[in-house]
Parts: sequence; structure tokens; C-alpha cells
Amino acid sequence: MKYQTYTSLRTFNSFGIEAAAERYAPVHSVSELQTLLREEDESPLRILGGGSNVLITGDLSGRLLHIRIPGRQVETRNADTVIVSAGAGENWHEFVLWCLSQDFGGLENLSLIPGSAGAAPIQNIGAYGVELADVFDHLEAVDLHTGATLRMDRAECAFGYRDSFFKKEGAGRYCITKVFFRLSTANHRLHLDYGAIRETLAAMKVVTPGIRDLSRAVIHIRSSKLPDPARIGNAGSFFKNPEIETAELNRLKQLLPLLVAYPAGEDRHKIPAAQLIEACGWKGYRQGDAGCYEKQALVLVNYGHAAGSEILALAQQIARSVWERYGVRIVPEVNVW
Ligand code: EPU
Repeated sequence: MKYQTYTSLRTFNSFGIEAAAERYAPVHSVSELQTLLREEDESPLRILGGGSNVLITGDLSGRLLHIRIPGRQVETRNADTVIVSAGAGENWHEFVLWCLSQDFGGLENLSLIPGSAGAAPIQNIGAYGVELADVFDHLEAVDLHTGATLRMDRAECAFGYRDSFFKKEGAGRYCITKVFFRLSTANHRLHLDYGAIRETLAAMKVVTPGIRDLSRAVIHIRSSKLPDPARIGNAGSFFKNPEIETAELNRLKQLLPLLVAYPAGEDRHKIPAAQLIEACGWKGYRQGDAGCYEKQALVLVNYGHAAGSEILALAQQIARSVWERYGVRIVPEVNVW
């Protein structure tokens, strides 16, 4: 197998950043991956999935493997659940739609999230009251050091809020190749309580929603707030929502009386970074082609030809101002390369 040299990554990252990979190879199967890993090579190795959660700040030296392993399958079925699998290279939203078309429930709130199925466990994708961990069964991966295949269950993946083993101890060590989900085939449990879901369903005149209605409502909400990466480059939420203690929340409420907060365990609260960023005046701000999206302050955008370093500089300015004004540290959710 051969690497392509100095490949443009512009169409492979949802920010639409122009940058080159010194050596690039698309990977379509586990055996192709293992063949590449057997080559004697000490140069840096990176794994790219759907490119929707990465900010590339310069040309990449070494090797870049672009995981394009296909496959969607019903693995096992019993009375009211089914185990389905997705090859790591499957487009996440198309996989969700495929599950919905067969009346498999559990992924509907995660509709329209950009990216690939293989990348989804890494940051434990989540939206509208559901996260991947809720429906995850297990995954298969390849150890990048040894080329060996392995299986990991939910506990081993150590999922947290936009977090997992693969962002901590396992960072840079594994390539996820296939993900397995446990979905419902009957008596679907609908998660309707987050944000504008109920009112969106009511506006759609849906009285007794099913999983496909819920998916349509989520798609409607996302499309109205989040920029379409095909039109405006972005990677979804750029920062994570911070978790703070009660005393800290009370202090912040003095400064921002309308601050929203969600319970996050004993004496812990999650607060929307978007609200802090907006209160610092960044929403809709633009500096060259780098900007803070006008409809969702947590989303940084590339209006055309911004360099990754310009987006990063804006992110740092935003984080600094939130820190100086509110004493809260906001950290990127997006991987910065
Ligand atoms: N808000 C503002 N200003 C804004 C946007 C939001 O003040 O410009 C406030 C509102 O008060 C709102 C609250 O923030 O009540 C929460 O907003 P929203 O429901 O849009 O969600 P979020 O916390 O900004 C998170 C996820 C999104 C996910 C939505 C919906 C993170 C980092 N982001 O955003 O995930 O779609 O909830 O569940 O947890 C992503 O991770 O890339 C992503 C888009």
C-alpha cells in the first residue's frame, strides 16, 4: 500500500481548513490498517475519522490514516432489542437514519451530528439529553503499537461528558474499527425533555411522537441553530460546558443572574459556556474569516479562508476573556492538531 504525499486536507475537515498531510492513506479494512502498521516507521502517526472534531493549525508531518472502513449490520436480535454494528468509516447520520428506517430506537436524539461512527465513542457524542454511552454495547479496535485487534466494553471505554478512555490513557494508542450498539425494536424510550424538543414536536403537530418524529424534531432544531459545515466551516461546539461547584455557581449568579445551570452530581453543576461567551460580547464577532457563530456562541466558524491558527487565536482570546470576566476556565472540546 502506498501513501499519497502532500495531500490537501481541506475537504477532509469540517472547518474547511487548508493544510497538507505529508503522507496520507485512506484505510478501508482492518487488514489494510494492519498492513500499514507492520511497516517499519517511526514518524508521527495520526488517525482521521470524519474530520468534524478537529482543528488543523498547520501542515501535518508524518503519516495520516483516514479511516473509511464501511459496513452496517444487524448482529443479533431478541424480543425487544437488537445489536447493530457500524464500520468506523460509516457516516454517523446516515447510520442513524438506517437504524430509524428499520424502526430501531435509541439514536434518534443523536441525529445530524457530523462525523464518523468510529470517532463517536472517542468524545462520547451527545445531544438533546442522550449520549452515545447510553446505547453503546462494545467496540473493536486495533492497537497501533502492535497491530493486534481487541474488543472493549462500556466500562473499559470509561465514558464521561465528551470524554472517554481514548482521550485519556488510550490517547494515540488505538484505532477504533467497528462500533456496536444495543437498540430497541419495541417500546422505544423517548427522551423528550431537553430544551425545545417538545415545543418543536408541537409545532410539527405531532401528538404521539415516534422515534422518526423525534429525529425530525432534532434535525429541525440543529439546522436552525448550528451552521451546516458544507456552507460554513465549523466543528460543532468548540468548547466543553464547564462543571462547577455550588459556591462557584452562587458567585456567578451575582454577576449573571440569568445564568442557566444543570445538575451534574452532588454539589456539581454544568453551565452553558455559550452563555458566558455571549455575555462577553463574542457572539457574531468576526476577525478576518474566523468567527464566533451568530446563532450559537459555542460554535467557532471559518467563513472561507481562515487558517487553523487564526481560529485557535480567536478561541484563546475568547477563553481568556471568559476567565478574566467570570473566573471560569473553558477548554476546547475539539482536538487541536
Ligand atoms: N446559550 C446562550 N447563547 C448561545 C447559545 C446557547 O446563552 O448562543 C445558552 C442558552 O441559555 C441555552 C444553553 O446555552 O439554554 C444551552 O444551549 P444549547 O441547548 O444550544 O446547548 P449547548 O450547551 O450550547 C450542548 C452540546 C451540543 C449539543 C447541544 C444540545 C456541548 C459542548 N455541546 O450545547 O453538542 O448539540 O448541547 O444537546 O456539550 C457538540 O458537541 O459539538 C455539540 C454541538
